[in-house]
Amino acid sequence: MPVPTPAPTSSHAPLQVVILAAGRGTRMRSARPKVLQPLAGRTLLAHVLDTAAALQAQRRVVVVGHGAEQVRQDFTNQESEGIDWCVQEPQLGTGHAVLQALPLLDAEAIALVLYGDVPLVRAATLEPLLATARGGALALLTVHLPDPHGYGRIVRDREGQVLRIAEQRDATPDELAIHEVNTGILAAPVRLLATWVAALGNDNAQGEYYLTDVVAAAAAAATPVKAVIAADAHETLGVNDRMQLAALERIVQRQIADALLEAGVTLADPARIDVRGSLQCGRDVWIDVGCVFEGRVELADGVSIGPNCVLRDCVIGAGSRIEAFTHVDGARCGDHNRLGPFARLRPGSELDAGVHVGNFTEIKNSTLGRDSKANHLSYVGDATVGARVNIGAGTITCNYDGASKHRTVIEDDAFIGSDSQLVAPVRVGRGATLGAGTTLTSDAPPEQLTISRARQASIAGWLRPRKRDQGGGSNEGR
Ligand code: UD1
Ligand code: CA
Repeated sequence: MPVPTPAPTSSHAPLQVVILAAGRGTRMRSARPKVLQPLAGRTLLAHVLDTAAALQAQRRVVVVGHGAEQVRQDFTNQESEGIDWCVQEPQLGTGHAVLQALPLLDAEAIALVLYGDVPLVRAATLEPLLATARGGALALLTVHLPDPHGYGRIVRDREGQVLRIAEQRDATPDELAIHEVNTGILAAPVRLLATWVAALGNDNAQGEYYLTDVVAAAAAAATPVKAVIAADAHETLGVNDRMQLAALERIVQRQIADALLEAGVTLADPARIDVRGSLQCGRDVWIDVGCVFEGRVELADGVSIGPNCVLRDCVIGAGSRIEAFTHVDGARCGDHNRLGPFARLRPGSELDAGVHVGNFTEIKNSTLGRDSKANHLSYVGDATVGARVNIGAGTITCNYDGASKHRTVIEDDAFIGSDSQLVAPVRVGRGATLGAGTTLTSDAPPEQLTISRARQASIAGWLRPRKRDQGGGSNEGR
């Protein structure tokens, strides 16, 4: 094999990242491609792409294969911007995957290979690897694991030089005893990587073109191979099965909980909170056990969240209290709100300061003005509710006629008696009162009492019907 000319060592060489994501992930036993499995609310692949972006990679090439269309479609056009997709078909191994990506890389760039199923590695951990590759070497990220099973082992000579990587299925008993393992992540000048990858063979237990064999090729060509040992083993864990995915989820959740504690948030139990997205908290926020946060959630100063609440894509104003088992999705809540227990806010709900929404009340696509209250068993949908309105227990906005949705308007200081139905489109004027049990089908004028109930009557001397006595037992149950 001809000895390749060493790549010009340049600290300015652009960084181009290749992410391997074509494998089936058989061990997950899932219809979804492995790299689309969620970790802390985002796919494994999204985590890796973020890391590449944090390194300011000039190019990000994702090698897809198994479920290629599904993987591509999981990213919106905006997210896909700056990603080059490359298809590996069939999937003949990690080395074969890199071979497919090479035509998209520039010869004078530095290539960093990341694995779509190794999601937690941080940009800061990769920096020394890139510096090593910029010096003209093949740089490997390795780690010492107490249980190295399943990983490729790093085989070194007596002087400690890396010779090659032995895959679990191909390793000798001596090699299996090695605890330093390959994380899969490596960096090298593209020019060198290209010559090594082109020469890979597949004479191994799996009949695959192993990327790991570039180590032996580099060593044979006298290109320096340098291992950068990751300090934090957690970062380099791969996801091959559900057990590993669950373990990583706990690791990420613990990291998020620790960051919240450090930022001054009180958590009743840092082991019992799940953040699947981003959670921003002001000062003196208190969160009880069993809460789940999804998408983008913002809690202002002094917010307290009771046990077992689910909050998704919402903003909660300062000093608000959310009681147990409340579900908030796509809502904006003002300061000093009181929600729950057992309240449900659906998308498009906007609550001004001082609003109370109590148990078994559902609010959808509605605004509630300052200090308004819907404390018990109500449905407020497609409504514009003014300030200081009291919505009595069991009030329902009948917003849907089976074909279209209609709006209900309730002006300031109105009082809606319990068990009323407001058949939209309909308007309750300022300061109006609805008597309990009203079925409102036309507008209620301001400042008046509107009531649609039948007048109450009592009939003196009325006798309740009686069962006829038939002497020989009753007919009951026939
Ligand atoms: C690989 C490494 C092993 C390392 C381990 C770290 C090889 C041969 N082995 O083993 O040394 O310790 O990762 O986690 O590289 N992929 C493709 N195309 C393919 C095959 C795989 O894109 O043809 C992708 C997969 O989607 C996955 C990644 O490459 O994201 C790794 O593949 P996987 O089969 O999980 O390799 P491991 O057996 O974990
Ligand atoms: Ca793997």
